[in-house]
Amino acid sequence: MTIVAMWCRHENDNLIGIGKRIPWSVASDSRHFLQVVAGQTVVCGRKTYESFPGRTIDGCFIWVLTADENYELSDVARHSIIHTQRDIAALLDKEERDLYIAGGAQIYKLFMSGKEKLKPHIVVDCVYGGEPEKLDGEKIDITDSVDVLKREYIRISPFYEADGVRSAVWVRRGEFVEQAPLKRIVAILESDTTADWG
Ligand SMILES: NC(=O)c1ccc[n+]([C@@H]2O[C@H](COP(=O)([O-])OP(=O)(O)OC[C@H]3O[C@@H](n4cnc5c(N)ncnc54)[C@H](OP(=O)(O)O)[C@@H]3O)[C@@H](O)[C@H]2O)c1
Repeated sequence: MTIVAMWCRHENDNLIGIGKRIPWSVASDSRHFLQVVAGQTVVCGRKTYESFPGRTIDGCFIWVLTADENYELSDVARHSIIHTQRDIAALLDKEERDLYIAGGAQIYKLFMSGKEKLKPHIVVDCVYGGEPEKLDGEKIDITDSVDVLKREYIRISPFYEADGVRSAVWVRRGEFVEQAPLKRIVAILESDTTADWG
């Protein structure tokens, strides 16, 4: 199975959220995210789960990380709760489907900086170059995870640019990566962007 992380961060400061929200709205970027995770198993933190409209993504299985033993899911048939890194490791041992890490910052860090077996094979690094909205709330950034990306991963795609977002695909240095998910992701990004190797 392949583990994929996908995020959209602000250039320079690696901001991904303010309070509960992403402080920009770029339709093509949201569409790419939904296309990449369509029909897949997604893992996210409780706060990100609560930021999805209706606390769901149509057609996806979702693993929600929370310490709350009594947390109420919106769809008990397709969503499940995981409480610890050990739960994730146990699930990964059984799971055959690919896993898509959808944030937020705590969950990217857990996978990018955690145990070897949790580290994503593929990272889809989308970078927003516009001005973030001015919102009230805590600024949430993923600088720790971006540092790991730059140290341990290598970019294997051009930059795909659309609507002020530059996206690129990175893979773990020295690791075997399944071609099927890689080709699927690249096809989604190339479909409506311009590409340059930078
Ligand atoms: N731009 C992007 O690409 C992007 C993507 C996703 C999210 N976001 C933004 O990121 C922000 C949310 O990120 P965040 O880092 O604050 O929150 P988060 O990672 O979404 O969720 C944090 C919660 O996950 C649970 N959790 C974390 N680590 C855990 C562990 N080891 N074991 C068990 N539970 C664990 C805890 O839930 P409990 O408190 O219930 O125990 C914790 O409060 C929002 O602004 C969201 O819009 C942006």
